[in-house]
Amino acid sequence: MKIAIPKETRPGEKRVAASADVVKKLAGFGFDVVVEQGAGRQAAITDAEFQAAGATIAGTAADALRDADAVLKIQRPTAEEIGMMKSGAVVCAHMSALTEKGDMEAMAKAGLTVFAMELMPRISRAQSMDILSSQSNLAGYKAVLDACNEYASALPMMMTAAGTIAPAKVFIMGVGVAGLQAIATAKRLGAVVTATDVRPATREQVESLGGKFLTVDADMERDAETAGGYAKQMPPEYFEKQKAVVSEHIKKQDIVITTALIPGRKAPVLVTKEMVASMKAGSVIVDLAVEAGGNVEGAKLGEVATSDNGVLIVGHANVPSRLAKDASQLFAKNLLNFLTPHVDKENKTLKFDFEDETVSGTCVCKGGAVVHPQLTGQGA
Ligand code: NAI
Repeated sequence: MKIAIPKETRPGEKRVAASADVVKKLAGFGFDVVVEQGAGRQAAITDAEFQAAGATIAGTAADALRDADAVLKIQRPTAEEIGMMKSGAVVCAHMSALTEKGDMEAMAKAGLTVFAMELMPRISRAQSMDILSSQSNLAGYKAVLDACNEYASALPMMMTAAGTIAPAKVFIMGVGVAGLQAIATAKRLGAVVTATDVRPATREQVESLGGKFLTVDADMERDAETAGGYAKQMPPEYFEKQKAVVSEHIKKQDIVITTALIPGRKAPVLVTKEMVASMKAGSVIVDLAVEAGGNVEGAKLGEVATSDNGVLIVGHANVPSRLAKDASQLFAKNLLNFLTPHVDKENKTLKFDFEDETVSGTCVCKGGAVVHPQLTGQGA
């Protein structure tokens, strides 16, 4: 059984879907692991490390992918990459399956068995396979550092002979995995941290990290969480209330980090133009949801924009890739944890148990068709 790890080709993607540790484990199962030359270069993982772990290095993507029985990737394959894969191959990656349906159809047509890792069910057993968590955690951390980079002041309070510097006020909107890590990071740097979320369970989490929770409407928030742990689309009245509460709070903030996402939908707008206009010059907003349409009016994907009143709005694309080494290592481990229960050790092959909800929950294409209920219109 040949497992291929090609170099990522989408613009700005520095991560690779393997680490030396993971290659070692896969080789230990008796698989032939083939890594494309230079695949880990931008994630600080050398070909020599992959080789020492048991991989063979292929000179080109076509050489890596030809005859591969399974392909591990970070992002969904391009049409060119799909053309290099054989029918029947298994492909695991962040597929953006709910928004890139045409690409899922193309992979089904090519006869690929496709697992969209972002659809991993949120059950405790699957935590170690959850790419959204592993990558969001790093993004939350990096968002604070990216904010510091643009901010012309320090975060902690400093009492010096030349005068006292007040601590920065940091406000986190959306307290999922990224938001929690952002709170922890900003606290470690000495900021005064507040946070808000529609899911009431987050209050305790914010407080346990030393942050202060900003409540919008306790009644409406009672029913804000899906059984899967995600936020629901909130009614328009909630957004009106949120706007009023946040407007008052945000004008006093130095740094705002927004992370609010609704799976498969456009991100909600949480920071309006008027709110940006009410902030002090030199304040920084980092919009981690910019790729999903953005939480902040005026955020531009891949840019640091400046509002008329001098507020910096950071819209970096693909934030996990800005910490490419750790992000690759954790992503690769998520893939390994997903595959391991389905390794047929005797025959040195992969035999997926489709009764397992981590398999049925992520399988998007199989047997020439798109099969996931959320794509065929049979699921929520
Ligand atoms: P996410 O990335 O989908 O969204 C980020 C945050 O934005 C969420 O906390 C969400 O409630 C919030 N949000 C959405 N709309 C909002 C609005 N209008 N205003 C304010 N906030 C808004 O969420 P993420 O980070 O993926 O985590 C969601 C939950 O799932 C967390 O409780 C997390 O602990 C849980 N989880 C469970 C896992 C498991 O059991 N395997 C794995 C990963 C996360």
